[in-house]
Amino acid sequence: MTQTYRILKPGSQNPESARQQFLRDVEQGLSQTPKSIPSQYFYDETGSKLFEQIMDLPEYYLTDAEYEILERNHRRLAELVNHSAFNLVELGAGDGRKTRVLLEHLHSEKIDFKYIPIDISEGAMTSLQEEVAACCSDLEMLGVVGEYFQGLNWVEKHVGGPSLVLFLGSNIGNFRPSKAKIFLRRLRQVLRPGDFVLMGFDLKKDTRRLNAAYNDKQGITARFNLNLLARINRELAGEFDLDNWEFYGWYNPLSGAVESSLLSRKRQCVRIGACGKVFEFDAWEAIHTEYSFKYSEAEIEKMATTAGFTVAEHYHAKNQTFVDSLWSIPL
Ligand code: TRP
Repeated sequence: MTQTYRILKPGSQNPESARQQFLRDVEQGLSQTPKSIPSQYFYDETGSKLFEQIMDLPEYYLTDAEYEILERNHRRLAELVNHSAFNLVELGAGDGRKTRVLLEHLHSEKIDFKYIPIDISEGAMTSLQEEVAACCSDLEMLGVVGEYFQGLNWVEKHVGGPSLVLFLGSNIGNFRPSKAKIFLRRLRQVLRPGDFVLMGFDLKKDTRRLNAAYNDKQGITARFNLNLLARINRELAGEFDLDNWEFYGWYNPLSGAVESSLLSRKRQCVRIGACGKVFEFDAWEAIHTEYSFKYSEAEIEKMATTAGFTVAEHYHAKNQTFVDSLWSIPL
């Protein structure tokens, strides 16, 4: 067993400074018009568990679609990328459930690669390490705890060889298009000819299907969003009464996104103890929580070329709901 595991902690955060940052972001978000809470705060322990339940929902087609794409195309991917040993770099690996399909296949085909997940959460990295140890015990894994670009720069500097960078699960869809553009430009700048990117996109589709995916019958998505307020109560001495709030998340074909928010069921004032401030909400005022942008194939190609990538191949889900787009770097 030669599994390697090292943690890089560039701006290592202690729990107290993380809590201070959470407080600053909440204070700032609730002082803006429209009010908002950054979606990164969905994923505390409760939120991460709820998100796992979302991925298992019959209505939430995204996870299964990408699972199936990786299952059917791993060989083709390996053929294109594996001219020599390479790094399989994953941004925001989370619990690595989907990547596991890819890892297991590549590993069992004796393909020469290192798995390098980059994730800001040390907890996620530890579970990922256990997951990988269980499925592919002698696979070389180098876990990088840090922000995406800190991690990528570190990999380019300290680890040799070409990289295939994975950004799966429609993560890119959670950026506003202007932010996505900046993100992709930066990504292009740290990569070199010979590297590849595999980017997951949820496709534009029948609005009924989209709306069903974000309004599941069991109400897990609603609980996932309401957990943001519960988390403020737990960690920042917030006084949100969850009965006075409801989840609202619908696809807007004009913006191209499922726009998720929490609605105040009545006019109310809510105190947040940690900053000693009281926030006012009008009846039916919204707190924005997340955008989930959906793309057409033409839009995906335009995004890739605008950022300086070349689209190599598109891997579609059989049911045409989702695409993993493979990009290369022109010489
Ligand atoms: N960010 C993921 C997505 O856009 C997770 C998610 C699923 C989500 N359902 C949600 C985020 C509802 C906010 C609201 O698909």
